[in-house]
Amino acid sequence: MPKKLYIKTYGCQMNVYDSVRMADALAPLGYAKTASPEEADFVILNTCHIREKASEKVYSELGRLRPLKAAAAAEGRQVLLGVAGCVAQAEGEEMLRRAPVVDLVFGPQTYHRLPEMVTRLLAGEGGGLVDTDFPLESKFDHLPEEGASQGAAAFLSVQEGCDKFCSFCVVPYTRGAEFSRPVAEVVAEAKRLVASGALEITLLGQNVNAYHGDGPDGATWGLGRLLRRLAEIEGLARLRYTTSHPRDMDAELIATHRDEPKIMPYLHLPVQSGSDRILSAMNRKHSADDYRRIVGELRNARPDLALSSDFIVGFPGERDLDFAATLRLVTDVGYAQAYSFKYSPRPGTPASSIEEQVPEAIKTERLSALQQLIDAQQLAFNHAKIGERLEVLLEKPGKRAGQLIGRSPWMQSVVVEAPERLIGHIIEVDIEAAHGNSLAGRVVTLDCASESHIARTVFAQTGAA
Ligand code: SAH
Ligand code: SF4
Ligand code: F3S
Repeated sequence: MPKKLYIKTYGCQMNVYDSVRMADALAPLGYAKTASPEEADFVILNTCHIREKASEKVYSELGRLRPLKAAAAAEGRQVLLGVAGCVAQAEGEEMLRRAPVVDLVFGPQTYHRLPEMVTRLLAGEGGGLVDTDFPLESKFDHLPEEGASQGAAAFLSVQEGCDKFCSFCVVPYTRGAEFSRPVAEVVAEAKRLVASGALEITLLGQNVNAYHGDGPDGATWGLGRLLRRLAEIEGLARLRYTTSHPRDMDAELIATHRDEPKIMPYLHLPVQSGSDRILSAMNRKHSADDYRRIVGELRNARPDLALSSDFIVGFPGERDLDFAATLRLVTDVGYAQAYSFKYSPRPGTPASSIEEQVPEAIKTERLSALQQLIDAQQLAFNHAKIGERLEVLLEKPGKRAGQLIGRSPWMQSVVVEAPERLIGHIIEVDIEAAHGNSLAGRVVTLDCASESHIARTVFAQTGAA
């Protein structure tokens, strides 16, 4: 009987991608995925350490899983419990002490060793295994090829780790040094994703635009060149990449936005703060005006480009004037959406030991003011799409029967009434309504000739016969 694997994923898209690859790695051992932890023989929590709340979630989930594991044991069934991801990397052995119910703690660079670890555990090696190495070999060279299709919108990790050391951030410690996969490997994986139904690929990396992979010509390729190469893949309609750092937004990459229509006109470009004093304390190595200039160049290259960002409020030492500068930057740039967070001190990071921490009440106040401004910009951005005809990649069923949800080129969720067989296709939609977080519209139809029109739209997008 096949064994069941349940993976719960927290944190960023790199973790989402890693979870897919962990399932691929375990498939040869007979593990098939399940959506319910109750019936799993192996439960993996793929965790995030970025803020305190994210980390703490892991321990409450482990608390919920403990009786489940005990109940299975009472029936004579062994359930393995593994913790992967950034909390695993950060806490290592400590995690086993705090939560002895855990069998296996393993960091993000060790996933290719998973089959061996599981085999050892099943052979009765008790007491808990910990692997938080940063091995010399790349996990990508040792993971099996991707198994199940990711569907029409797929992720592909091209870069991992970070050498930037922003003073608030754990990522350089949990993911390790910057590393780029070779171009040929990325292109081969992208082709396989397209062959298995992907129309859109999002390239992933903690610092994706710091990409510097070995090219087939012996030269080092930047992200711009890689995107141009991937855009040549027939059948691939859309390309995105995330997350970028303003410092690595080079001229070649900006020009690629101008030249390559397959790159979607939406970019997540975190700035964190609009105050130069705070940006410097954050070790971001760019000023607010550097950021404004980069955004200007990007919009020159691609006038319909919409932006998203991350912001931290209440970084140690942030005063009212600094926060006002952040609001000014948001007003100047104009975002299609953005994420904002209260500063959360993380163990081991330089900012956590700065004395002048901002009181919680002020963080709350600033967060709410910033979110109000961003929400208003997002609503205005969405409203401006009413009356437009947008290409939408339909991804999944909506909440109500008959509804499907897809993505516009600008990452907006678009809700339409359409038959389920159109999932995985790009169709044209006339936008009729806009809300804070979504658009609604009508699939472009020609009354009774609707079917053939939809088919034509799909044909034009995919080049499929
Ligand atoms: N590599 C990306 C971001 C990775 S983390 C970049 O360079 O922008 C995602 C976001 O979490 C960050 O952009 C930041 O806004 C937020 N974040 C990171 N550490 C944080 C902390 N200690 N407290 C609050 N927010 C944090
Ligand atoms: Fe963290 Fe900064 Fe690296 Fe982004 S660039 S992952 S915020 S250290
Ligand atoms: Fe979280 Fe690690 Fe991603 S800390 S945001 S899961 S890189």
